Amino acid sequence: MNLTHRTPGHMTAEPPWANTQSMLEEEVRRRQIFPGLSVRAYESIESTNDICTAIAQQGSRGPLVVMANHQSAGRGRQGNHWESPAGCNLLLSLLLEIPNGGHDLLSLAVSLATAEAIERAAPTLPVDCRVKWPNDILLSGCKVAGILIEKPASNVAGVAVIGIGVNVNQRSFPPELAHDAVSLATVCGSAVSRLTLATELLAALQQWLSPSLVKDTIIAQWKARCDMLGRRVSLESAGSTIHGMVEDIDPFNGLVVREDNGALRMCHAALSRMVRCEPAT
Ligand code: BTN
Repeated sequence: MNLTHRTPGHMTAEPPWANTQSMLEEEVRRRQIFPGLSVRAYESIESTNDICTAIAQQGSRGPLVVMANHQSAGRGRQGNHWESPAGCNLLLSLLLEIPNGGHDLLSLAVSLATAEAIERAAPTLPVDCRVKWPNDILLSGCKVAGILIEKPASNVAGVAVIGIGVNVNQRSFPPELAHDAVSLATVCGSAVSRLTLATELLAALQQWLSPSLVKDTIIAQWKARCDMLGRRVSLESAGSTIHGMVEDIDPFNGLVVREDNGALRMCHAALSRMVRCEPAT
């Protein structure tokens, strides 16, 4: 195959989708990413998260990565749909054993891995990748990637399905998203290889999900990539509407918001929806 390389591992051309599975298998073996990782790449399926969940319910504990060129029923957080045109974006789920993975620290680590992988796979990006609680990845204030972490079921304890959707080569968005969404190609001005991004993402996930990583490092790095601290937000959380200033992020209790009446509120990611986050003043 005639692929040109910018730097080792950075392809400027996208290989045919049919070659994705074997090429990703080769890359993860070569770079020793998640030893024993199984790779599946589908042309079109309902949702990569659903495939991982079904496989976990049959007793597998991973590691397994599932990718799709198209999803017919892609899912986002809190019951939203995740729409992506066929053949241009990264739609990937990782089934993995995660001891103690039940708190927001996992979500912070996955956000950091995604941001880092994007910067490595698209070195011509003119801006840094930022994170927005709970787990959106932003470029210039617009969403470039989203993360949906699920636990398959109570009978498969210690296993997580980490679903990541990155807008890679999508050139336009539906009107309702046009002001809030971007892709790597629109920001960089040129196409980015999904295979390179998938490889960098798995490498970064291996690093950020390592049990030896100190929790404080994850929290400090997440805060360093986050623009939200000190900003005014409105959230729906656990049945009530909260207005206030973001005071902190707590990996176990979520977003820490100082309400206008002085009360301190902990907003768990699973129970909260961001309604508005005002620009920094
Ligand atoms: C969000 O921002 O709401 C999360 C979006 C997560 C989308 C990804 S695409 C791959 C994986 N499969 C799914 O059905 N969803 C996740």
